[in-house]
This record gives sequence, C-alpha cells and structure tokens, in this order.
Amino acid sequence: MHILVINGPNLNLLGKREPHIYGTQTLADIYDELTKNFPVIQFTFFQSNHEGEIIDTLQSAIDGTQDGIVFNPGAFTHYSYAIRDAVAALPIPVIEVHLSNIHLREEFRRDSVIAPVCKAQVSGFGSAGYLLAVTMIVNARQNIEETSKEKHSE
Ligand code: DQA
Repeated sequence: MHILVINGPNLNLLGKREPHIYGTQTLADIYDELTKNFPVIQFTFFQSNHEGEIIDTLQSAIDGTQDGIVFNPGAFTHYSYAIRDAVAALPIPVIEVHLSNIHLREEFRRDSVIAPVCKAQVSGFGSAGYLLAVTMIVNARQNIEETSKEKHSE
C-alpha cells in the first residue's frame, strides 16, 4: 500500500514553531513515527511552502499510484480553492489533518474550504492525528477490497 503524506506551509518549522500550540516534535519525528507504526506501508513524504507545488503533488496521485493521502494544508486550509479543486479531482481518499484543534482557535481557522472534499478531518490530536489518518485510509482500502470480493462471488 502506498500513502502520500503532504504538509503545507510553515510545517517545516515544527519543533521550533509555536511549540505551545504545535508541540515539540519535528516533521522528521512525525515521519519517523509513521514509518515505525506502519512498516509495510510505502510512504512518500512531501512538504512545501508553495501552493502550486502542493497542487502539482496532489495531481501526481490522479493516476492511481497512491492508495490515499494524509494532508495537512496548513493555512491554505482556510482559503485555497485551488487546493480544494485539486483534492476534489482525486479518486482516492484524502484525510485532512491538523495538529491543533482548529475549531477552538481564531475565528478564521474554524473554517476549512478543503474538508468538504475530504473523506474526513482529524483535528486536535497532535501528531497522533497522522497515525489516525493512515488507519482510516487502510480501513477504507480494506472495505473497497471486501466489497469487490463480495461482488465477484455473487
Ligand atoms: C494547522 C492549523 C492551521 O490553521 C495553521 O495555519 C497551520 C497548522 C495545524 O496543523 O494545526 O499551519 O494546519
């Protein structure tokens, strides 16, 4: 199974950036945690501070090479319709992740323009949110496989 993990702007600064909100783990620590917890999954990790690069990476998953995407869009969450359109175009589950609980913060963070085109939003679980998102993709994939087995045996 292949899972793409995309992190948006300023998430390269995790560990140094507002640790009282985002914790002390670095992005590398989170990637490490994912690979250790899911040793059979082939992860591709991508981080960018640039909207267009994030869109290009989302588009690279349109041909079915990935089984799902774990996506923390950072501040783009709250206003990027271009990223929303890129997610909407994909035939695979995309799980939106936020380290902090965006619903308990400033007014402008409470809204996500991307969540309506995602399978789920995980917000406020810290780095455990990434693990939850991977679990959701694994479950979604198993459900698809079971349904197709049932159809074939009919
Ligand atoms: C964030 C929440 C966003 O509002 C913020 O702009 C981020 C990080 C989170 O992980 O909690 O950069 O996505």
